[in-house]
Amino acid sequence: MSILVVVGAQWGDEGKGKIVHFLARKAEYVARYQGGNNAGHTVVVGKKRYALHLIPSGILMKQTKNIIGSGVVISPRAFREEVLGLEKRGISSRKRLFVSFGAHVILPYHILLDGLREESGRGIGTTKRGIGPCYEDKVARIGIRVCDYLEPETFKKLVVQNLKIRSAELARLRPLASIEKEVFADYDLLRRFIAPYAQDTSLLLSEAIERGENVLLESAQGAMLDLDFGTYPFVTSSSPIAGGAATGSGIAPASVEFVLGVTKAYTTRVGLGPFPSEMEVKRGDYLREKGHEYGTTTGRPRRIGGLDLVQLRHAIRVSGINALAVTKLDTLSGTGPIEVCRAYRWKGKTLTHFPWSRKAQGEAKPILIRLPGFNGNLASARLFSDLPKAAQDYILWIEKNLGIPIPIVSVGPDLKQTIVRDASLSSLADFVKP
Ligand code: GDP
Ligand code: IMO
Ligand code: MG
Repeated sequence: MSILVVVGAQWGDEGKGKIVHFLARKAEYVARYQGGNNAGHTVVVGKKRYALHLIPSGILMKQTKNIIGSGVVISPRAFREEVLGLEKRGISSRKRLFVSFGAHVILPYHILLDGLREESGRGIGTTKRGIGPCYEDKVARIGIRVCDYLEPETFKKLVVQNLKIRSAELARLRPLASIEKEVFADYDLLRRFIAPYAQDTSLLLSEAIERGENVLLESAQGAMLDLDFGTYPFVTSSSPIAGGAATGSGIAPASVEFVLGVTKAYTTRVGLGPFPSEMEVKRGDYLREKGHEYGTTTGRPRRIGGLDLVQLRHAIRVSGINALAVTKLDTLSGTGPIEVCRAYRWKGKTLTHFPWSRKAQGEAKPILIRLPGFNGNLASARLFSDLPKAAQDYILWIEKNLGIPIPIVSVGPDLKQTIVRDASLSSLADFVKP
């Protein structure tokens, strides 16, 4: 039995979906513990490509059960669409997907408020899915949980109360009566749809742990989008770092045995905010096209940068990451010498720890180191020794400079394009053995 947490180690889009899909082969449960349908995880299975938003990537492995934990915010409408979309493609969620009674529901007014704030001049480039406003309600203790949503009387009372509380802002957009009408328009349909999936998922997970099953907890975003330890305020409104796995799923923190971080071989970010290792436009444009770096959820072009050791060390520390999976090594092939950020320069000082100050985060310049690039098609490599020598050296260099093992290297979106360099690392071993 093993309990493994998989976290994004950058600003999201690290390839978590692919890595979780790979590890889910050996998992009885895969649980999402934060975020919502702001996430976009693309998983490729043979010739089929799936864009998952709310549902854990474990859904694509037939034997795996999946959980949307209490730390997640769930749009009932988006949930129904995603479940039905998968069903159309032959993937059934019945009896293998469970939604926590404690997850908070995203309603149309959260989406309106998200848009309003984005357009107010103080926007941060959100996905406009209503994520922030829904978490605001949760923290303000006026949120509506799945268990409340399932009780028509409770739900109606809370909606009327919350529309009143948010009326000053909402009335700027549309008459409140029309917003209320929209909230209730498909309520019965959505409530009936979600009801069979709703469960005490903390209990399900603890029973699975007692039975000695393999449980994988997946973050929806990356460490640098964490509400506490990311580039605040340009962050999401929840905790993707490993600590969030316990609070967002209802398992004991001490039961987590291993934290696997996922990082690309370079860096991307979508949305606004500091990005110290961001590249000059021309080289960034080239990598964006080569790596198809466009958002899975919003289609926005991703900003591109070099691998950033300062940022990664921060992510490793705040999540207690035990090992890294490095993805998209193939994308770097043929792009010339590799530039890696080893420290920042700010106000004449060298920074080796990620700074708290938003000014420092915004103004810090990367101190770069150049490593030899590599050529050739890496996509067909199945063993580490199949990779060009300079590509192997790059991975070994990262390992050495971060002081952390890299047991998994990914060279393409397909499961087969996953190189397991070390299948012996404590709890990870249960998930990577052939
Ligand atoms: P996530 O949000 O962390 O799950 O990442 P995304 O799915 O948003 O973005 C990662 C993209 O890269 C997806 O389109 C994946 O199919 C793809 N991908 C994952 N690993 C690799 C890899 O090693 N090489 C290549 N070329 N693509 C990859
Ligand atoms: P995956 O699952 C990349 C970013 C948004 C924005 C900030 C806040 O694909 O890794 P939000 O809508 O959450 O309030 O937006 O967070 N963001 C992501 N960036 N990948 C994601 O998910 C993201 N989810 C949110 O772009 O900057
Ligand atoms: Mg993504």
